[in-house]
Amino acid sequence: MKTKPSILLIEDDVNIATGLQKVMQAHGYEVATLNRGDDGLAQAAAHPFDVVITDLKLPGLDGLELVRQLHQTKPKLPIILITAHGSTEIAIEATKWGAFDYVPKPFEVDELLDLTAKALESSRLMSEPVEMGEPLSNHTAIVGKSRVMQSIYKEIGRIAATSVTVLIRGDTGTGKELIARAIYQHSDRAGAPFIAVNCAAIPETLLESELFGHERGSFTGADARRIGRFEQANGGTLLLDEIGDMSTSLQAKLLRVLQEKTIQRVGGRESVPVDVRILAATHRNLEAAIRERLFREDLFYRLSVVTIKLPPLHQRASDIPDMVRYFLHRYGPEAGVASPAISPDAIQLLQNQSWPGNVRELENTVRKALLIARDYTISPEHVREVLTKAREPVAVSNQSHAAYITALMDQVEHGEVQNAFARMLADLEPELYAQAITRAQGNITKAAQWLGVTRLKMREKLREFGLHPSRNEPTE
Ligand SMILES: Nc1ncnc2c1ncn2[C@@H]1O[C@H](COP(=O)(O)OP(=O)(O)OP(=O)(O)O)[C@@H](O)[C@H]1O
Ligand SMILES: [Mg+2]
Repeated sequence: MKTKPSILLIEDDVNIATGLQKVMQAHGYEVATLNRGDDGLAQAAAHPFDVVITDLKLPGLDGLELVRQLHQTKPKLPIILITAHGSTEIAIEATKWGAFDYVPKPFEVDELLDLTAKALESSRLMSEPVEMGEPLSNHTAIVGKSRVMQSIYKEIGRIAATSVTVLIRGDTGTGKELIARAIYQHSDRAGAPFIAVNCAAIPETLLESELFGHERGSFTGADARRIGRFEQANGGTLLLDEIGDMSTSLQAKLLRVLQEKTIQRVGGRESVPVDVRILAATHRNLEAAIRERLFREDLFYRLSVVTIKLPPLHQRASDIPDMVRYFLHRYGPEAGVASPAISPDAIQLLQNQSWPGNVRELENTVRKALLIARDYTISPEHVREVLTKAREPVAVSNQSHAAYITALMDQVEHGEVQNAFARMLADLEPELYAQAITRAQGNITKAAQWLGVTRLKMREKLREFGLHPSRNEPTE
């Protein structure tokens, strides 16, 4: 299994180079440095680096030319450009030529670390192979030999080599992202970039520019042109994740792009041709969203030329034993357990659960059980302990914030909670939604505005928490 991510830093200013090298090493990266562009290109082409960070002005070969040539030989290697003041236009040129992103000097180290992490994630998505059916090695795998999974593998094989749009559906944690990666890797675009955009994670106002780019001055804060993900993914594949969360006005623009195969940057007039294969994923019930006029029917038909539907985990419980063994093997090393084992009873117990969080929840449960059982065989008791803990929320009420956070952090430290942010949100959210809808006297639009979420999200949360807006909700 691979250890540290490796980074090639090409920078002729020795002070900057050594400074950055130190910081990045402290963050767990392996960093090689070079001071000439031509050397950088040669090394980057010859060795398997995960990310290249390069200065723009370099002896031997300038950064822009380096980007152009390196991207041609290794289109999946993310390159981050460091630019001097005033050379933003060149950097933008570079993103058109395939650079992942750029930072203008002077920059905060955090900014570069942030970009590096994003670039690594993008590189992982593209390069980590996904095997189907059975994990043969240490690779990531889509585990499962159940009938429905077999037919999904067949479908992937059938459509992968085409450029057809695929809509991937399924509840949270059912493996939509894995499927998207498998389609990409088996496609004839596997050598070209794969870029994923999470439509739910980017505020609505910024999503359009994220996708299509913008021209300088097109809105406050747009102080330079920006190349969007569509242009960056040109020739490759774009995953529009959580597409059900996109606003209807942006849906209309997306539809036009899909039909015309050209994009217009925000605030721009030029039509830029793009050749991008679209994969879209969502956990939402799009038919219901269409009925509520929250999702455009025409876009739905355009996207769902081929649909892959991942069933909830409890409907493929026969796959659970294989999954459990796969996760044990995968997470044994991080728990310090050399040869993880589980009793048949414990597997049986895992198979009998309903798994609302699907494979992700099973994965987390196995990880935690490993930590509890240590070198012993995982027993039903270990499993029960994990399941009970996960289901009992930290009580938020009647506690000061500090006390709540202390309790939460205790759980984090003991490996009982993995994502403290998500957990905090989950603990506090019901009250927030309840108060918002009560104070807005049942007006969903108003409550959604207050909380800064979409109406769709508002409705969904109200349903989830069993809250009911009053009947005099205005028709929207
Ligand atoms: N069939 C499978 N075999 C092995 N691991 C799986 C399988 N399906 C999902 N996983 C794992 O479960 C986790 C969740 O999968 P993934 O992110 O693909 O789900 P998702 O459907 O995109 O979820 P969400 O709707 O929350 O975005 C990941 O860690 C993934 O590796
Ligand atoms: Mg996902």
